Amino acid sequence: VLRIDLRQTGKPISTNLIGVFFEDINYAADGGLYAELVQNRSFEYRPTARPDWTALTAWETVRRRGADGTVVVADAFPVHPNNPHYVVLETRAPGDGFGLRNRGFDGISVQAGNVYDFSLFGRQLFTGNRWGNSGVLEGPAEFEVRLEAPDGSVLASATVAVTGREWRKFHCTLTPARTEERAQLVLLSRTRGGVALDEISLFPRNTFKGRPNGLRADLAQTIADLKPRFVRFPGGCLVHGYGLNNLYRWPLAVGPVEQRRSQPNLWGYHQSMGLGYFEYFQFCEDIGAEPVPVVPAGVCCQNADHQGGTGQRGLPMEEMPAYVQEVLDLIEWANGPPDSRWGSVRAAAGHPEPFRLKYLAVGNEEHITPVFKERFRMIYEAVRRKHPEITVIGTVGPFHSGPDYEEGWRFADELRLPMVDEHYYVAPAWFWENLERYDRYDRARSKVYLGEYAAHDVGRRNTLRSALAEAAYLTALERNADVVLMASYAPLLGREGNTQWRPNLIYFTNTRVLRTVNYYVQQLFSLHAGDVYLRAECEDPRASAGEGIRPDDRLFLGTWDTQAEFDDLRVEAGDRVVWAEDFSKDRGPWEALSGDWQVVNGVLQQRSAATPARCLFNVPPGTTRFTLSLRARKLGG
Ligand code: AHR
Repeated sequence: VLRIDLRQTGKPISTNLIGVFFEDINYAADGGLYAELVQNRSFEYRPTARPDWTALTAWETVRRRGADGTVVVADAFPVHPNNPHYVVLETRAPGDGFGLRNRGFDGISVQAGNVYDFSLFGRQLFTGNRWGNSGVLEGPAEFEVRLEAPDGSVLASATVAVTGREWRKFHCTLTPARTEERAQLVLLSRTRGGVALDEISLFPRNTFKGRPNGLRADLAQTIADLKPRFVRFPGGCLVHGYGLNNLYRWPLAVGPVEQRRSQPNLWGYHQSMGLGYFEYFQFCEDIGAEPVPVVPAGVCCQNADHQGGTGQRGLPMEEMPAYVQEVLDLIEWANGPPDSRWGSVRAAAGHPEPFRLKYLAVGNEEHITPVFKERFRMIYEAVRRKHPEITVIGTVGPFHSGPDYEEGWRFADELRLPMVDEHYYVAPAWFWENLERYDRYDRARSKVYLGEYAAHDVGRRNTLRSALAEAAYLTALERNADVVLMASYAPLLGREGNTQWRPNLIYFTNTRVLRTVNYYVQQLFSLHAGDVYLRAECEDPRASAGEGIRPDDRLFLGTWDTQAEFDDLRVEAGDRVVWAEDFSKDRGPWEALSGDWQVVNGVLQQRSAATPARCLFNVPPGTTRFTLSLRARKLGG
């Protein structure tokens, strides 16, 4: 029986509760949401990401009958210093075709009748008379651009003519006659001579909302269908990278794509930055979500320089003033007038109106060390001074409890942070056992953004059990929406065959999008979000029928995250002690479900705090009602 008193005013539920967290993990950006079909389009892959990767990864030289020539990677006169590598393609004899082939991401999937926009940057180096005398340009360097099926048959073909000695962009369109899942892009030189080529690109015309340099329509729509109130981006650990040189620096992810600095990412592949800050903000606007960018707090991933050697865990203090300014510049880029320094960069990209940024997250899952605190404080205070209208979101470390968590909260109290970001990836049972977590939160402290969470079931699969646990937990978040203002499942996307992390909310291949059961939970809570939480009372019919608790029922006693020991556990009915346990035996009616337990001198001790301990109690025969009392001590501080 469920009783709800409809006269109560209730507690408002945050209007921004359900959002998404996008990180470039599992090929979520290049080869995923970003609609670019060419892999390694700017020849910037390098072995830092994978030992076998080179500037020519995903490319092959094509040399058909009678053809002769060479392809080499160069860096002498690049399109832009941020994009240093390009290829020099010298055709000595065009024959039946000399040039390059790109395999895309597991092939290039094209659909009959759709238009594909091809472009490249090129400049002529010398013409066919190179071995003659003058070096004077005799005419354009012509290329046939093709989409070919795996059997070599031509699906679409067009021509581009590269002219001039300066870098310029050249275009053509391709409309395949047949649908093909694993096509390849082929570029065949038709003239003798040498050309420099870079930023070789192929986009479907039908990107999400038809945006140039846009997003894959089906994937973007799947995210839009969640009606997320906000999007957190671009990470995750990706934000602080694997070393100070790998931090995600937002200014390098705006402006013309050929001028952005691509870099290896911490998840073991490459990020072109084609999906950069402009595209993230535009996507948020297109789907009616608040942008929640995350900037590095000036420290490496969890304060550890994985590149090794430098010993630096944070940006040197003398670099911090410039870095703080970089963070302030982001706010100007997003919200400043079009004639401001950074607002003009946004305007030049086609968005003179401000993006109306409200939130800024600083740091991700940091260890709350002095190195972190010093840098975070500088950034936070500067933003608060200059932009009190921006809600800064801090971090309380990688876990739901423990030293970083506690120190993170202490630090948040000290700075009076408006909001902190909590993260936890835990077993489904944890969610059930912690439904009251936020009931106990002090309302006077910082608000919570649950920026990353997911129920990790056995084998890290997306299961109904994990989805139900998340759903139950979301009801608890709604009940506590005066504390938890925002929440986002993590991670969002996983490319089948290229995942570094499971479970994810959405899986995809080049042609398919799979919405998981966990996706539908998020969608349910998002599309049917409540305005207010009404207190309800629930009566168990079994209890009202006088049955109470039955022998052999298994009652959950509690979870302990910190190492503890217990020396008294008793069950009383009225004045009568029906059962008491002094833990002199290894097993009794109690049962330790997890954790590592030992009985020492009549005391039940949890060996380590590494695994949260759960304890069940088997109800002894004859018990109908009981009071449970428990005496415990925390071990290890
Ligand atoms: O969501 C995957 C990763 O989990 C994130 O990058 C990181 O913040 C967390 O550890």
